[in-house]
Amino acid sequence: MSHTNLVVLTGAGISAESGVPTFRASDGLWCGHRVEDVATPEGYAADPALVQDFYNQRRRQLAEVRPNAAHRALADLATRWEGDFLLVTQNVDDLHDRANEAMPPAAGFELIHMHGELLKGRCTRSGVVMDWAGDMAADEASPHHPEGVMRPHIVWFGEMPLQMERIERALEACDLFVSIGTSGAVYPAAGFVQAAQYAGARTVEINLEPTSGARLFDEGVYGPATQAVPAFFSTL
Ligand code: OAD
Repeated sequence: MSHTNLVVLTGAGISAESGVPTFRASDGLWCGHRVEDVATPEGYAADPALVQDFYNQRRRQLAEVRPNAAHRALADLATRWEGDFLLVTQNVDDLHDRANEAMPPAAGFELIHMHGELLKGRCTRSGVVMDWAGDMAADEASPHHPEGVMRPHIVWFGEMPLQMERIERALEACDLFVSIGTSGAVYPAAGFVQAAQYAGARTVEINLEPTSGARLFDEGVYGPATQAVPAFFSTL
């Protein structure tokens, strides 16, 4: 089967074998914290130091992890895909970016971090986004506005994911949609499969195990991402 316009959605499962923990652990906590405390605007307003510390730790951990065979398989695909290829990740790590740097992608490729990036900060007053590699203080002054402070460039619950119009356009035009390592628990990403199906695309779920939304997909490929992702894309 040949395809022209590809949209791939990735979630925490693609980075799990690199050593980045997934979100929905059985204790309902993210690394010992309640989601409301570290991933909402209200949590940030209540305790900016706690929230900055949480993301400072995650940013530091990026130095200890590397892209795995699944990230590399997508980067390799991007170099040889002849149509449009939009890779949308919910992950805030930089593992797709690093895999792509090693293999510069073709012209029709684009990567969107719809939930933001750990390695970026945003001015609370001007909205300017800038690269941020080190720690961020609770009262980190913004170079972009005299009254602004820097916050993590992360989409928290209650905030709008990034570049949704661009993503919706790609879903309307895609003929293959592949969802990798995501539980499908968080909208709007969880609804992408239906948008792709509406556009007439073939839809595939790749995950360690069938998710609660597995029946929404035409096909499922189950196994660890480092094996299942290279195996699936080698068949295209
Ligand atoms: P989840 O933690 O909800 O789901 C991770 C998925 O990865 C599960 O379906 C696992 O079965 C699967 N998985 C785990 N290990 C895997 C492996 N080695 N190979 C393949 N699959 C594996 O993470 P997400 O779906 O990414 O949002 O979570 C979505 C969003 O929820 C996150 O982006 C975050 C969170 O709220 C924000 O921070 C805004």
